[in-house]
Amino acid sequence: MHQSKVRLELLQAFSEAEGDYVSGQKMSDILGCSRTAVWKHIEDLRSEGYELEAVRKLGYKIIKVPDKISSNEIQLGLKTNKLGRNIHYEEVVGSTQKIAHTLASSGAEEGTIVVADQQTEGRGRLSRVWFSPKAKGIWMSTILKPEIPLNKTPQLTLLAAVAIVQAIEEVTDLSPDIKWPNDILLNGKKVVGILTELQAEADRVHSVIIGTGLNINHKLTDFPEELHSIATSLFLESGKEFDRAKLIQAILLKMENLYGQYINHGFKPIKLLWESYAISLNKDITARTLQGSLKGKAIGIDDEGVLLLQTEQGKIEKIYSADIEINS
Ligand code: BTN
Repeated sequence: MHQSKVRLELLQAFSEAEGDYVSGQKMSDILGCSRTAVWKHIEDLRSEGYELEAVRKLGYKIIKVPDKISSNEIQLGLKTNKLGRNIHYEEVVGSTQKIAHTLASSGAEEGTIVVADQQTEGRGRLSRVWFSPKAKGIWMSTILKPEIPLNKTPQLTLLAAVAIVQAIEEVTDLSPDIKWPNDILLNGKKVVGILTELQAEADRVHSVIIGTGLNINHKLTDFPEELHSIATSLFLESGKEFDRAKLIQAILLKMENLYGQYINHGFKPIKLLWESYAISLNKDITARTLQGSLKGKAIGIDDEGVLLLQTEQGKIEKIYSADIEINS
């Protein structure tokens, strides 16, 4: 059996045992090898950072899994049908978005994800840089291929934001807010950024690539000084470290469920959920667009996901892309 298959089978057996011992005999049956060979595979897992306890007559038990996000760690325990079933993982990349674009245009199937441990040229919105240090967060791009018109694609950014908030709520005790269109905040500081990019013709969407940057285990000193007042991580807000692979699994499952609802019932249910998490609604805001700044009250989003801003003169402006500041 191929080494990576052995590893997956072994980890699967531990996962099914739900924290209990797996006997050496059972493992040698599953892998079709001798008990000595099983021991050798266990040693391989140890060298990868797994802590395993061995007890005579009972077998082996996993005490601690390493915080890794390779394909196996994501696959094990993933409950989706489509999202994340095809994983492209690399330790260091320029940007996962770039790789996802290449994969999407060469026929990658819907739900393919690109995940990296570190990005050296992480891309943010409006040509900004996204700080993506090694092993601290989730740097992931998800390829979707919805059959929707071009003007509806911003809805998917809002859908992704809801999925990520729900996943964070499920895995941690934190309750993040969304600031239109796609910043996810904890205590007013950004913890997640979403970048949605398209491959499309004038009247047809080929692929939507949803880039997710989630700051998880950063300590304050892991951030460059200039981000200290504006960025945060799940660790900084909760004092706890989180397993990145588990969070990826939760995000993909939430996203798959919401995407299913969206395809079957349209944007309405997603819009309601999004509004329940949004902090920028019914507040006085300044929207900085490429065309200049606009002040007014954020009165809602329309059915396309576009922000509606009511100016002091009572005029309703549609904001398609902007940075939003909530005025105090
Ligand atoms: C933002 O500006 O708020 C969006 C940030 C998006 C960052 C993610 S990290 C994974 C993916 N790859 C990138 O280069 N960017 C996105």
